Amino acid sequence: MSDERLRRVRDRVRPFPDFPEPGVLFRDISPLLKDPVAFRALIDLLEDHVRALYPKIDFIVGLDSRGFLIGTPLAQRLGIGFVPVRKKGKLPGATESISYSLEYGKAELEVQSDAVEPGQKVVIVDDLLATGGTMRAACELLKRLKAEILECLVIIELKALKGSEKLNSIPFYSLLQYD
Ligand code: PRP
Ligand code: ADE
Repeated sequence: MSDERLRRVRDRVRPFPDFPEPGVLFRDISPLLKDPVAFRALIDLLEDHVRALYPKIDFIVGLDSRGFLIGTPLAQRLGIGFVPVRKKGKLPGATESISYSLEYGKAELEVQSDAVEPGQKVVIVDDLLATGGTMRAACELLKRLKAEILECLVIIELKALKGSEKLNSIPFYSLLQYD
């Protein structure tokens, strides 16, 4: 790995076998959040990537809950706003909602109906892509609002689960890949 910043980030992702259920190898980002140097390196890398590819973005969209931890500092760095996509029943006012399945279970996601205007450009951010169910559901919500999705962006991609194939033609980028 040529980039020292990427090495710092990778060193702070911790594997836990059989969590939250047997057969799942959980990739824990808690050490990354605890280490300010590594966390800064992470946000630097994401900022560099996004600035290089997308000169004009209206919002970073972050997915409940770990996507909030990454998406809000990234949005601040870029000087743009942040839009939360939340698990069901947390957002007031009119919402769009969608149910989906993930590596360990099922859930429902919501976004406020007035969160973005038609045609506004968004990058959707989460910590991890496993089956891709969560990210695909978020894309569907943003499409309903007629946002232009520039990219889906994650720190960690679990390649063996082939989640990126669920995103069809939407550009996808991951910083770290695991089999
Ligand atoms: C995790 C992770 C992603 C999703 C990935 O979130 O943060 O959002 O699972 O899985 P998928 O690609 O199979 O859909 P989780 O729903 O566990 O919630 P959390 O962020 O609140 O821990
Ligand atoms: N979310 C879904 N699958 C996961 C995994 N293996 N590790 C961490 N978060 C996850």
